[in-house]
Amino acid sequence: MSATPIIIFDTTLRDGEQSPGAAMTLEEKVRIARVLDELRVDVVEAGFPIASEGDFMAVQAVARALQHAVPCGLARAAKADIERAAEALKVSPRFRIHTFISTSPLHMKFKLQMEPDRVLEKVKESVALARKLTDDVEWSAEDASRTEHDFLCRCVETAIKAGARTINIPDTVGYSVPQEYEALINMLANRVPNIDQAILSTHCHNDLGLAVANSLSGVLGGARQVECTLNGLGERAGNAALEEIVMAMKTRPDFLPYTCNIHTEVITKASRLVSSITGFVVQPNKAIVGANAFAHESGIHQDGMIKNKHTYEIMTPESVGLTKSSLKLGKLSGRNAFKTKLHELGYDLGDNALEDAFKRFKDLADAKRDIWDEDIIALVDDEMARSMDRAKFVGLELRAGTRGPAEATMEIDVDGAVRATKAFGNGPVDAIFNAVSDLLPHDGKLILFQIGAITTGADAQAEVTVRLEENGRTVNGQGTDHDTMVAAARAYIHAVNKLAIKRQKSEPPVLTEKMRAV
Ligand code: KIV
Ligand code: ZN
Repeated sequence: MSATPIIIFDTTLRDGEQSPGAAMTLEEKVRIARVLDELRVDVVEAGFPIASEGDFMAVQAVARALQHAVPCGLARAAKADIERAAEALKVSPRFRIHTFISTSPLHMKFKLQMEPDRVLEKVKESVALARKLTDDVEWSAEDASRTEHDFLCRCVETAIKAGARTINIPDTVGYSVPQEYEALINMLANRVPNIDQAILSTHCHNDLGLAVANSLSGVLGGARQVECTLNGLGERAGNAALEEIVMAMKTRPDFLPYTCNIHTEVITKASRLVSSITGFVVQPNKAIVGANAFAHESGIHQDGMIKNKHTYEIMTPESVGLTKSSLKLGKLSGRNAFKTKLHELGYDLGDNALEDAFKRFKDLADAKRDIWDEDIIALVDDEMARSMDRAKFVGLELRAGTRGPAEATMEIDVDGAVRATKAFGNGPVDAIFNAVSDLLPHDGKLILFQIGAITTGADAQAEVTVRLEENGRTVNGQGTDHDTMVAAARAYIHAVNKLAIKRQKSEPPVLTEKMRAV
């Protein structure tokens, strides 16, 4: 029996970005979109164009950047939303408009304050309008899993009649359980008279830790599209994790006879990029992409693995792109060898970026004996992350310890002119942050300071995330260096740069609140 194809719809840039603190800049969204394209997801939900000018521009930029995936924009059941989505997406030869409205009694009564008949009219009007602007229309019944079945069937039938070609059935609040969700999808597949004209889709949230199980059950029930995010990023407890859905289908074809277009060897790279951009660390024991997902620590397991890998390994690390090859480059390696390695790792940098990355590689090779692929990836990601920064780290001298306050002497290049200052603090990090604030004044409040290690060992590079909040706007800054304090300085400077960009664009602070308003 041949496997049934499943459409992978990624919503990391839309539902994922709705996680408090996960806001991304336009450039970051484009970088993630490129990796989603490399991963070969079928549809990329790029954002919610009506939410702000920044969102509109980001959706447009993502639509332009995608070469394989179909770009998609979210719109409420409102004319302005739908037209704005089409306006942003029309830079692409084909695009999808995803329009939604709540259908559960609770949402209709309290959130929408609309009678069911009015909701039905809105379904018809919104889908018909979207269909005038593109052939590819998706309609979602928000809070579908708590909607009365008869009413849901009427809504779905209406949406299909009005032109929707994908029908999404969200478990918006993550309340469903696998048997129930499978039965729901199955019920729609059997009861809606025109269902053969549309594809049913799952969209499951993880409030009970069941998002992946529910999505796979939905597929067993007849869904042919799965909506998911990298690392399971998303509102509250998140969405179904793309990597878990895809690897479950790949590993258990006996129970899940489905295929998809995903190039699974790109999963680790994609997961890492999302984690480093958002500052949402992947827990070590997370399935597929956690640091321990393929680690075998106990003696019994190691012994078994040596005798036969299949004793404890159900999928290979290579199948998700996890390799630990030591880069045989050192202090004396030239640009060409470095460029070739970058190419192997999937990076194609312009001349200037290559030059900067090469200089940092040389500095790293001076400080660190073994350079791993992960080190190079982190270094390049770090360079790419700060390519738009006007203020750049130049140098840092630090005095810290048990005697007296810590002292940081800091140099920062702002638009080509180097500024310097000395500041004190309650510990080295405080002194560094005070020095940065001295040179780059801002009102941002520190809400997260997080240190991770890129590889193992005492000489591992540190990866620092700093989250700042200023007047309701949140930004994440990243910094990587073999010196943890330099990484902290780079991360803080990066965050302050991003605050300045947000301030300039005067982006409205909270996207999610806007979404809830209708
Ligand atoms: O969870 C949800 O219901 C959503 C819809 C907007 C599709 O994200
Ligand atoms: Zn959602």
